[in-house]
Amino acid sequence: MSALPHPIQYQGSKRHLAARILEYFPDDVQTLYEPFSGSAAMSIAAAACGMAQRFVINDLNQPLAKLLQSMVENPQGTSDVYGSVWAAQGEGQTQSVAHFNAVRDKFNQTQEPELLLYLLARCIKGAVRYNREGLFNQSPDKRRKGTRPPTMQRNIFGISYLLKGRSSFSSMDYRLAIKDVQEHDLIYMDPPYQGVSGERDGRYLSGLAFDVFVDSLDALNQRGISYIVSYDGKLGERVYGQALPERLELERLELDAGRSSTATLLGRDDVTIESLYLSKPLIKRLTKSSHRLVATKQADSLALFPSSYDAETFEAVH
Ligand SMILES: C[S@@+](CC[C@H](N)C(=O)[O-])C[C@H]1O[C@@H](n2cnc3c(N)ncnc32)[C@H](O)[C@@H]1O
Repeated sequence: MSALPHPIQYQGSKRHLAARILEYFPDDVQTLYEPFSGSAAMSIAAAACGMAQRFVINDLNQPLAKLLQSMVENPQGTSDVYGSVWAAQGEGQTQSVAHFNAVRDKFNQTQEPELLLYLLARCIKGAVRYNREGLFNQSPDKRRKGTRPPTMQRNIFGISYLLKGRSSFSSMDYRLAIKDVQEHDLIYMDPPYQGVSGERDGRYLSGLAFDVFVDSLDALNQRGISYIVSYDGKLGERVYGQALPERLELERLELDAGRSSTATLLGRDDVTIESLYLSKPLIKRLTKSSHRLVATKQADSLALFPSSYDAETFEAVH
């Protein structure tokens, strides 16, 4: 899975679990909705495996959503801006840390999406942090310079190849982003971790209330909509996040997220299990189709993908 293009370093990204989650995609998805897209790991994986025709990519974090859009629609321009911001950090550590801080200040004033790409690539553990005012306040990783421009360009052209011409991008509350969903579509939801009651999660810009979220899922059930939710997690016997209520009649699965910090719901090295909830209409759809077979085929195409692309090919195809 890590061989798929991933230009955005985003803590909590589902890139490492995407192949496992794709196993629960029906084989007839018209539009995949990813209303809490973050780095859009599931849209990227689904596009690479031909598991959806169109993609609705949304995140409340506007510069992040705009960044995805500009990478997909203008890969050369975005790569060029990244290359020049990256090069301007210079070689010395003091100079490059000062550069990061200056870019961070500029980003907090202007919200320019391309600056966010550099900040995410260079900051500690690729982990965003926002203060109470919504300002990006993560520090640079002093040991690394961030993804080198040629690698970044390859990744940017990679997602452009996969998503251009069949994706829409927005930055709004998830409820608005999914309002047009139909029965033949699928929603993948990966909302921010809620923590213990009232705890603020500085890792994401967030506007999510548990009860409102549950009501939205209820409304989707009434409409016969297929959806998948990543929600709570477990470390040993310790549970993180509130489980979704039984009245929603969801099928709850447990995915072993391993010990990689980037693979986990909580962005911690020690979390081992993430739960995945499947809606009843989705289960019905999966039961009707031979989705297990499809899942095996996906795993094959994931393994084959890396050798079959490079930035030049993407450019030529587009
Ligand atoms: C756990 S992250 C998603 C990570 C993503 N699955 C990935 O692979 O990168 C949750 C995302 O939800 C976004 N978010 C928070 N509240 C939201 C809301 N009310 N509507 C839409 N997006 C929201 C955050 O900005 C954050 O990017």
